[in-house]
Amino acid sequence: MDKEKRDKLFDQAKDWVLEAGKNIREKINDPLQIDTKSNPNDLVTAMDKETEEFFANHIKQKYPGHSILSEEGFGDELDSLGGIVWIIDPIDGTMNFVHQKRNFAISVAIYEEGVGEIGLIYDVMADNMYQAKRGEGAYKNDVLLSQMDRNKQFEEAVFGLNHFWLCENRLVEEKRMQQFVKDIRGTRTYGSAALEFAFVAEGVMDGYLSMNLAPWDVAAGIVLVNETGGVTTNIDGTELNMLDKDSVLTCNPAIQDRLLNSYIKHGRK
Ligand code: IPD
Ligand code: CA
Ligand code: CA
Ligand code: CA
Repeated sequence: MDKEKRDKLFDQAKDWVLEAGKNIREKINDPLQIDTKSNPNDLVTAMDKETEEFFANHIKQKYPGHSILSEEGFGDELDSLGGIVWIIDPIDGTMNFVHQKRNFAISVAIYEEGVGEIGLIYDVMADNMYQAKRGEGAYKNDVLLSQMDRNKQFEEAVFGLNHFWLCENRLVEEKRMQQFVKDIRGTRTYGSAALEFAFVAEGVMDGYLSMNLAPWDVAAGIVLVNETGGVTTNIDGTELNMLDKDSVLTCNPAIQDRLLNSYIKHGRK
């Protein structure tokens, strides 16, 4: 995508994200209409749907040739990332939206032929816009985010993890995760994959590891993390499947190799 086209799309996408965020803030104390999806803890609200519909309507009207990949059903059924695709999570961290009224984000990415060109993650209540265009660095509001420290020590890493790592799975049963969290400095759980990616790009965390994320959880975050020198793969260390759910490791490259090889793949000697 040429720069002029990317700049224009970026400005438009950002305007819509800000408008959608303002709408959510204005209604944050209104009574919520909450439904559940795959299980009683998998929440969706009328605001998730309203926000996604807002994006879908605007995009379809202004850019009829673009496709939409999104969570709540207003997007398209895609079997490839060909052309220009908007990958949207209208509210990432719905549980936080419902229970905390903060720590949730709007995540919007624009990919062309499978390449992430634009990433926007808007922390709605904090009014922080994490934003990146491919090849032009990542910003938190107007501040350019630093490149990751290539000499980061594994023992000083702070990692985003979620409750999955307290549940039964191979990496827990084989005590690999327990060893990992003992060997690094600390862990954090924010409950919004998009915000956790943004924090990795910002350098306030050195990585984030999660099972079972959808493309809209990670698409904008990948663009941000790329721009600050980070790397994103699944837990096998291979390229993410951007059309389906996948495990995700996004981190400072100084951490990646040891985490994949000494804990996830083989366990620590
Ligand atoms: C969820 C959040 C959460 C992650 C879940 C996601 P949603 O997205 O990103 O942090 O652990 O796997 O599904 O449903 O709130 O958009
Ligand atoms: Ca959801
Ligand atoms: Ca999500
Ligand atoms: Ca969501």
